Amino acid sequence: MKIAIVGYGKMGRMIERLAARRGHEIAARFDIDNNIDGAGLTPESLSGIDVAIEFSTPDTAVVNIGRLVALHVPVVVGTTGWYTRLDEIRSFVGQHNGALVYSANFSVGMNIFFKIARDAAAIFARYSEYDPFLIEYHHKLKKDAPSGSALVIANLMRESYGDKTPEAVSIRAGSVPGTHEVGFDSEADTIMLTHTARNREGFAAGALLAAELIIGKGGVYEFPELLFELLD
Ligand SMILES: NC(=O)c1ccc[n+]([C@@H]2O[C@H](COP(=O)([O-])OP(=O)(O)OC[C@H]3O[C@@H](n4cnc5c(N)ncnc54)[C@H](OP(=O)(O)O)[C@@H]3O)[C@@H](O)[C@H]2O)c1
Repeated sequence: MKIAIVGYGKMGRMIERLAARRGHEIAARFDIDNNIDGAGLTPESLSGIDVAIEFSTPDTAVVNIGRLVALHVPVVVGTTGWYTRLDEIRSFVGQHNGALVYSANFSVGMNIFFKIARDAAAIFARYSEYDPFLIEYHHKLKKDAPSGSALVIANLMRESYGDKTPEAVSIRAGSVPGTHEVGFDSEADTIMLTHTARNREGFAAGALLAAELIIGKGGVYEFPELLFELLD
């Protein structure tokens, strides 16, 4: 793929490194210095680009997305914090026959873990002797609690547990890697499901997979829709 990176920060640079290893070409890079108010995204600067990967800031993402879609470049959006504008973007993509995939968490492993947690909850909810619980651990500098991923897991468990869905317990200590545990406990035994993130590379790998999957499609997708189409 010929990729444009929009937002050349921590994630943009990691995607660049990983893309090179996978034989993709980073044909354009856009950051604050060459893309104020999306002005760097032009037919000339995007000529020959197959897909754009956008990891910038909540304030700049929507303008960037608008310009990429208007120029018929499929776009992968990793930036978070703009989802109140999702409906507007959805109709803009529809009007322009564009293609967009977004996710607050592009880690393939975490998305599979979400599915496993939802399926496990659906099974255990049928057995009242098992109590469900949800714990997440992060380093002490993480500001939000519970984590966004714990909220996603709780919402998925709610489909089966309703009002009995457990509240996530949050541990903030030292430099523990981001860890999410879903458990089911009875008098006889305990079942534990654990996801531990080792680094941010998983997000970059997932964004590249999403880029491969969005090319040739039309419309707006959340990453799991494309991922599970691939896995099913
Ligand atoms: N979906 C996921 O899986 C996932 C994973 C990790 C992070 N994220 C999200 O992705 C976003 C980026 O994260 P990050 O860690 O890479 O942040 P970062 O290191 O701060 O990178 C953001 C980059 O965007 C640049 N930027 C500012 N205005 C721009 C513009 N108009 N056009 C293009 N680039 C512009 C910034 O430049 P300056 O610094 O010079 O302003 C910076 O280099 C955040 O919203 C974060 O929450 C999502």
